[in-house]
Amino acid sequence: MNITNEIISAYIDNLYTNENEKLEELRNFAEEQHVPIIQKDTEKLLKVILKLKEPADVLEIGTAVGYSSCVFADCCGCRVLTVESNEDTAKAARINIENLGFSQLVEVRCGDARDVLKELDQNRRFDMIFIDAAKSHYREFWDLALPLMSEHCMVICDNVLMKGMTASDEYDTKGRYKTSIKRMREFIQYINSLDYADTTVLPVGDGVSISIIEKD
Ligand SMILES: C[S@@+](CC[C@H](N)C(=O)[O-])C[C@H]1O[C@@H](n2cnc3c(N)ncnc32)[C@H](O)[C@@H]1O
Repeated sequence: MNITNEIISAYIDNLYTNENEKLEELRNFAEEQHVPIIQKDTEKLLKVILKLKEPADVLEIGTAVGYSSCVFADCCGCRVLTVESNEDTAKAARINIENLGFSQLVEVRCGDARDVLKELDQNRRFDMIFIDAAKSHYREFWDLALPLMSEHCMVICDNVLMKGMTASDEYDTKGRYKTSIKRMREFIQYINSLDYADTTVLPVGDGVSISIIEKD
């Protein structure tokens, strides 16, 4: 299910253009292979944010084929550290990143982000963090990324509305996602309750949360 009105989504998607031919090819490849990558409207939103924020260092949790990390690097020349748990996927992402000419900017770390984040130099800081991996673990990703957030970091999480299921059980027609829905609702509640973060949830793509961090 799409969380937005289909006519409006189709209209917005029709406005989408990709000036980088190789990125366009990678998007087409991912879509053909049913690899879940950021939706077109989410990509446009992220690009506008990247241009406003101009982050130097981005941490991404969930690489897949390397599409979004290349979008980030292409958009504002930022360095990207991206974490992928699946070994074959991480290998494929490295090849794509090399082919697209971003290997100087984008580094793929293979491993469960819950381990990789602990192993990173805890003095390292990221200006933007993009969480786009296993939805049940968003809270753990956030907490482990907290020490790595720069003073005015922006944290963006994808798929937070889970095809509408976060908002209402009626979209979980077979009752198959009870645990992940519960966890996502708790996560959204959590990030909205933090006094060091200002958060908004937008019905873009599959739901995107944007949090501005203000560390003392
Ligand atoms: C939605 S895809 C990422 C799409 C990518 N951000 C893009 O838009 O091009 C999610 C990826 O996260 C990976 N993943 C899931 N759980 C993970 C974890 N705990 N640590 C690291 N990667 C994980 C999956 O293997 C999958 O490739």
